[in-house]
Amino acid sequence: MEGGSEEYRTRNISRNLHFLFLLFPLLVLHPAAAARAASTSYKEALSKSLLYFEAQRSGRLPYDHRVPWRSHSGITDGLEQGVDLVGGYYDAGDHVKFGLPMAFTTTMLAWSVVEFGDEIAAAGELKHALEAIKWGTDYFIKAHTHPNVLWAQVGDGDTDHYCWQRPEDMTTSRQAYKVDEEHPGSEVAGETAAAMAAASMVFKDINPHYSHILLLHAQELFEFGDKFRGKYDDSLEVVRSYYPSTSGYGDELLWAALWLHQATRKEEYLDYLIQNAEELNGTTWAISEFSWDIKYAGVQILASKLLMERGSELEDEQRSTLEQYRSKAEHYLCSCLNMNDDDVDNVDRTPAGLLFIRPWNNMQYVTGAAFLLTVYSGYLAESDHGALHCPQGSVGLPELLSFAKSQADYILGFNPEGISYLVGYGERYPRRVHHRAASSVSYKADKAFIGCAQGYDEWYCRRGENPNVLVGAVVGGPDEKDEFRDARGNHMQTEACTYNTAPMVGVFAKLSELVGELVEGTQPAEEGEGFAYK
Ligand SMILES: *[C@@H]1O[C@H](CO)[C@@H](O)[C@H](O)[C@H]1NC(C)=O
Repeated sequence: MEGGSEEYRTRNISRNLHFLFLLFPLLVLHPAAAARAASTSYKEALSKSLLYFEAQRSGRLPYDHRVPWRSHSGITDGLEQGVDLVGGYYDAGDHVKFGLPMAFTTTMLAWSVVEFGDEIAAAGELKHALEAIKWGTDYFIKAHTHPNVLWAQVGDGDTDHYCWQRPEDMTTSRQAYKVDEEHPGSEVAGETAAAMAAASMVFKDINPHYSHILLLHAQELFEFGDKFRGKYDDSLEVVRSYYPSTSGYGDELLWAALWLHQATRKEEYLDYLIQNAEELNGTTWAISEFSWDIKYAGVQILASKLLMERGSELEDEQRSTLEQYRSKAEHYLCSCLNMNDDDVDNVDRTPAGLLFIRPWNNMQYVTGAAFLLTVYSGYLAESDHGALHCPQGSVGLPELLSFAKSQADYILGFNPEGISYLVGYGERYPRRVHHRAASSVSYKADKAFIGCAQGYDEWYCRRGENPNVLVGAVVGGPDEKDEFRDARGNHMQTEACTYNTAPMVGVFAKLSELVGELVEGTQPAEEGEGFAYK
């Protein structure tokens, strides 16, 4: 969890400052952004991002629930199928519980705590972070009803999207869908296994009994996903138009094995990673995108960590395979840093420097990249490798982190629009988030039932701001020209998803610590300037 020794930190800070200083002549600060610079608070951003997960809760809400405009919902989920599927998270602005992105969200929350648990605790947010993870894993325990059965979805996108209703009023189908031996789903089984294994690490000391239960589920789910291999969108037609898997299940199986290896330290999972490296494309795919669907970059970065940690004890075959994983990890990181040779191997950027993969919910790729760059800089710091070697040159550790920071700062309002894409942060943020509950009158304020089409007429079609602020949500974000249109119907840009925000929990935690340290050794005049980087 720690970012290295005191000695390292001191060195890191001075290098970091030096680096920012060198960049200073290149800064082009938007006046509004500059004015806000001094008040950037990653700690506040961290607290808010965790609050968002409470707004997305499905099921029976506990007494200490902190989002005043939400109430119980989906409390008969699974009933038709005779299984208790109450709980879990709504995915985005709708009320389907989609298993694959929900599991990925939970894995990223758990990874954030595994890496930055100390920083999260220092910010006073550990309790909330653990609750956010447990809200996911409690649900996965319920959904995994038999070693080879996993309930992978509740509700369906088509009927759900036909209505604009608060979750408390839902009248749409709540049918549940499962994968099993005859209808395999290796992506969702693998990702859920990864989430539970990662969470078992988080709860290991705090709640050993719970941690043990999670690990048992994770092991069974991984075996199920591996033994009964099949694409989940072949088995479940209902996911096909919403969350189809374009990368297949190779990444999820390797990812699950890696998390299980970290959680158990059992050699069998390392062997799996080595033996299946090629067949499951772990050492062959070099890609520039990391998302709920395509997580090879995450696999490759975790494999690099393993290589750095265990280097000398590994057998030759293990080492050389892990080195191949690492070379693909480096490809990903270099592509984010614009340091691969060929432009097609680099990620595009907006004029103001935001990574840009595609117009639809681009922010998910930005937050994933910021997270991976942040954790990799930590792995480098702990190893003897001082730099990332890219085709266009070496990138020092502080530069990796500074680039991640530039993306976080863009999200928090350092951008040409002067808008924070973290809802509820700063003075300017999206007011018309595409979100059924946030855009309708709170159920607590007015319990009168809102029908399916009535919601569209009375709430969706309003021009005005949402009555409720979805604090902490990262929305889809601007287009390739840094432009953003705050309209409820513009769901490409104004919809928030749980998996956009989850990686930022780790990034904000890391930055809150870093800035705390920077402030100590810096003159006030430099602070604001240091925050911007282009
Ligand atoms: C590996 O990649 C190849 C080529 O892109 C693809 O056809 C195959 O389905 C992939 N295998 C897995 C397990 O994802």
